[in-house]
Parts: sequence; structure tokens; C-alpha cells
Amino acid sequence: MKKEKYSFEFERFESKSELAAEQKKVVEEAYDISLNAYAPYSNFNVGASVQLENGEIFSSSNQENASYPVGTCAERGLLAYVNANFPNIKIEKLAVSTPNVNYPLPPCGMCRQYILEIEKKQSQPIEIILSGKEGDVLVINSAKDLLPLHFTDEFLG
Ligand code: THU
Repeated sequence: MKKEKYSFEFERFESKSELAAEQKKVVEEAYDISLNAYAPYSNFNVGASVQLENGEIFSSSNQENASYPVGTCAERGLLAYVNANFPNIKIEKLAVSTPNVNYPLPPCGMCRQYILEIEKKQSQPIEIILSGKEGDVLVINSAKDLLPLHFTDEFLG
């Protein structure tokens, strides 16, 4: 038996104002759309925005449902739309934000897996920028970093 360790490097900024202009833009879009999230059951608003390689930005929010499991996270709703409409345009950045907390909002496990699938498909890392209403912002280099020992199509044989 040998012990192994998983770790990854990421950047922590003390506020949104410290980000580069392109990063700030996509974070602001994610935050703005989160204000109109459809989250009447959890009252937890989430927004997600992507910046494509052509500079275009698309955004979405969580969409809940009276039948709770039917609801979808902001990230997956957005990525489904973007991958359906622009399957050959790479995603450079993905921002996730919320007005509900003052710390960087981490994507749920299912969304991490979803982001990873798109990242692998486009053969280019997606920069993931996590923020809340105020406070620290985390910049993560790749979906892979958020999902140790990840499952991909390679295991399907
Ligand atoms: N939510 C997201 O939209 N993205 C995440 O990564 C975490 C959770 C939503 C789902 C649900 O509508 C609400 O936040 C509370 O879990």
C-alpha cells in the first residue's frame, strides 16, 4: 500500500474588483442573472455565465420545480444550451455566482461532472470562476481539478 495525495493550485482574489477585465465581466453577468433565478423552493439563487472563445457571453440561472428533483442547476442548464447551439465553439470561462452568500459558491458534484464532459469534448480547459455577493473569488484552471479520480468516456471501453 502507498499513500497518495490529491491537491491542486488555484487563485484566490480578495474581491471581484481584483479580477482581470474579462473575468470581471463574466462574473458580473453570472451575478446579474442570478438575481432573476427561479428558485421559489430553496430561495437560493444561482447564476452561471460562459465566455466563448469568440468573446460571446451566455448566461442562465437555476430553475426549480414543485417536483423538486426536476429542477436544474444554473451551470447545467446553461451548458446544455451552449453545447446544443454552439457545439464547435470552445468555452474559455465559466463563472458561477449567487447573491445569497459572501463566499465563492462551489458547483455541486453533478455540475462538476457535466462541466468536465464539455471540457473533455473541447480538449481545452475551462477556467472556472467562483464568487458570491461579496468577498473572495476563486479562479480554478480546469474542471478536472474539482473532480479527483473523475469518470469519463474512457472507462466505457
Ligand atoms: N444550485 C445550482 O444552481 N448550482 C450549483 O452548483 C449548486 C446548487 C441550485 C440548485 C437549487 O436550485 C439551489 O441551488 C439550492 O440547492
